[in-house]
Amino acid sequence: GDVRLWGGRFADGPAEALAKLSASVHFDWRLAPYDIAGSRAHARVLHRAGLLDEDELTRMLDGLDRLAADVADGSFTGTIADEDVHTALERGLLERLGPDLGGKLRAGRSRNDQVATLFRMYLRDHARIIGALLAGLQDALVGLAEAHPDVAMPGRTHLQHAQPVLFSHHVLAHVQAFARDAERLRQWDTRTAVSPYGSGALAGSSLGLDPEAVAADLGFEGGSAANSIDGTASRDFVAEFAFITAMIGVDLSRLAEEVIIWNTKEFSFVTLHDAFSTGSSIMPQKKNPDIAELARGKSGRLIGNLTGLLATLKALPLAYNRDLQEDKEPVFDSCDQLEVLLPAFTGMMATLTVHRERMEELAPAGFSLATDIAEWLVRQGVPFRVAHDVAGSCVKECERSGIELHQLTDDQFAAISEHLTPEVRSVLSVRGALASRDGRGGTAPSAVAVQLAEVKEDLALQ
Ligand code: ARG
Repeated sequence: GDVRLWGGRFADGPAEALAKLSASVHFDWRLAPYDIAGSRAHARVLHRAGLLDEDELTRMLDGLDRLAADVADGSFTGTIADEDVHTALERGLLERLGPDLGGKLRAGRSRNDQVATLFRMYLRDHARIIGALLAGLQDALVGLAEAHPDVAMPGRTHLQHAQPVLFSHHVLAHVQAFARDAERLRQWDTRTAVSPYGSGALAGSSLGLDPEAVAADLGFEGGSAANSIDGTASRDFVAEFAFITAMIGVDLSRLAEEVIIWNTKEFSFVTLHDAFSTGSSIMPQKKNPDIAELARGKSGRLIGNLTGLLATLKALPLAYNRDLQEDKEPVFDSCDQLEVLLPAFTGMMATLTVHRERMEELAPAGFSLATDIAEWLVRQGVPFRVAHDVAGSCVKECERSGIELHQLTDDQFAAISEHLTPEVRSVLSVRGALASRDGRGGTAPSAVAVQLAEVKEDLALQ
């Protein structure tokens, strides 16, 4: 028979070309368990409104249970002729319950409010999955920081040596970003916990159904949609989800890029574990940071999913338009990508070896203690403009004679400025420079220890 949900006013079936274009079942099938959960809740409000009697409700729920089991074990699947997941599952229900009872479930609902609800349910589940994976990554990074609490490295701006920082401080900077991403997911979830069920096609339902009951049944803590037009037409929850996943991708790509650089022969700051690197098919010596590169690459794809979605939504009049069927694949893809990327990335970060000596050898190089000379002069009462100039002259002198700042002689210091007494040497060590930055958020070991404790406490609360 005709599986279409809308055949009544049509004399002819759809052209094959239309059916092919229109079909979404090959990608929206993953909503099937949510569709069935929505159907259970809908059956209960139909019963409460007196539109299904006790016996009909029992048989309806039993039919939905059997359908759910057949979907779960793969014995029932949608086909291209079904158009979409909602149509396929209606066919499955009709096959199990017959047309008289099976045909009653559609009363008072539309695929428009159905799909808007199911999509929220699906994304809320995946926000939790991605949040848990993100917590795993933060744990691994905290572990990395904790295992190397006092390793100094060159801190960079413009990728040039700037000032020495603790490696643990640098790693925790990434943790801060991922913690905000995780927080974004939680805040998004609160906003998204509103059920459009009951909005019908766009105007609500005339059958006395209770949208609040459906919302509670389906776990929507925020209740049901306040406006049926908005309930069926809004997709900002999808765009925001796509943004958050893109932001996670971008944050991953920034760390990925650093890992790639740190892992080069020239830097030699880290070595990746064999299990989390790949070889070359022709060059036997190669050991490549493919996970980091895939993270960098996939971040572009995640951004594309966001921008594609925004372009679909732009200028779309209210309420539902079929354009909205294009809303699912981008974010399904964003979920799929992050759910394979995050475990691999976490494994890479949890197992890499840090080369302490190499980092510490380079920490003072490139005159990265010049700021410490300037700030030492300020503490002696010298105006910063003058101090900056004097410290700059020290660098010039070092470059001229091919030495580092701490190698300047007392005479050289004195020749540069009368303020540069030999005591300036007290700040010309990496340890001294680090320890002096002991205010909140600074790179001193004492300040980083405070930060680490705060980060761990926040993570435990998530
Ligand atoms: N497959 C559709 C979508 O994903 C479901 C809603 C279809 N509604 C309609 N009136 N054609 O948007």
